[in-house]
Amino acid sequence: MKIDLAFTPDELEKKKLAGKSVVVIDALRATTTMTVAFENGAAAFIPVKTVEEAREVVARNPDYLLAGERRAMPLEGFHLGNSPRDYRPEKVRGKTIVMTTTNGTRALVAARGGAEVFIGSFLNLGSLCRRLVESGRDILIACSGEKGLFCLEDTVCGGAIVGRLEKMGIPLTQTDAAHAAKILYEHCENDVHGMLCSCEWGVYLEGLGLGKDVHICAEIDSSEVVPVYREGRIILDR
Ligand code: MLT
Repeated sequence: MKIDLAFTPDELEKKKLAGKSVVVIDALRATTTMTVAFENGAAAFIPVKTVEEAREVVARNPDYLLAGERRAMPLEGFHLGNSPRDYRPEKVRGKTIVMTTTNGTRALVAARGGAEVFIGSFLNLGSLCRRLVESGRDILIACSGEKGLFCLEDTVCGGAIVGRLEKMGIPLTQTDAAHAAKILYEHCENDVHGMLCSCEWGVYLEGLGLGKDVHICAEIDSSEVVPVYREGRIILDR
């Protein structure tokens, strides 16, 4: 099984996605938030790139929730921001959520060419790896990055996937990018929360008083859900 990693969505667009299992990661916070939302009973997410598109989709479907952020802050007239703490059961149970975020939803849209596209975070690391093994396809990890640039947290989360698959005894052919990500993960695997607090976006979130979100994003293996992105919707298919 070959495993590769794209550090940014721009790099992802240069990769061959057909036939592969693609894992989209936005560890702070979008894919963590989605994982929590599904744990709390959300029915689906519809990721879109722009605020205007999100508003248009919800205008056509008034029972959908409008969610997302820019610079981590909720947007005017939106039902939800991008804090996993917003996505409580009483708010999201059974709901379809139209979401736009600065980086995460952009990476998702770029990942659409994959044979299967999964949502990855530290929270669902183990269940995601089991699903990837079951799928048996070559793997491409898609980091959301930060405004088109490298970000530490998504790369470390991607490296955690490589490391966990290795520990499961899966024979992996690692590209240099996947290998580098694993080395980064091994450097901080005993203190993922500390890494999240010290990376650029984590520091920014802490500065906004969102340190509790950073703590939630570090809760490794706290969820069994593995959301899949299929035909424009993110759902649970089992
Ligand atoms: C992103 O998409 O860049 C992040 O999820 C932004 C955030 O933390 O809200």
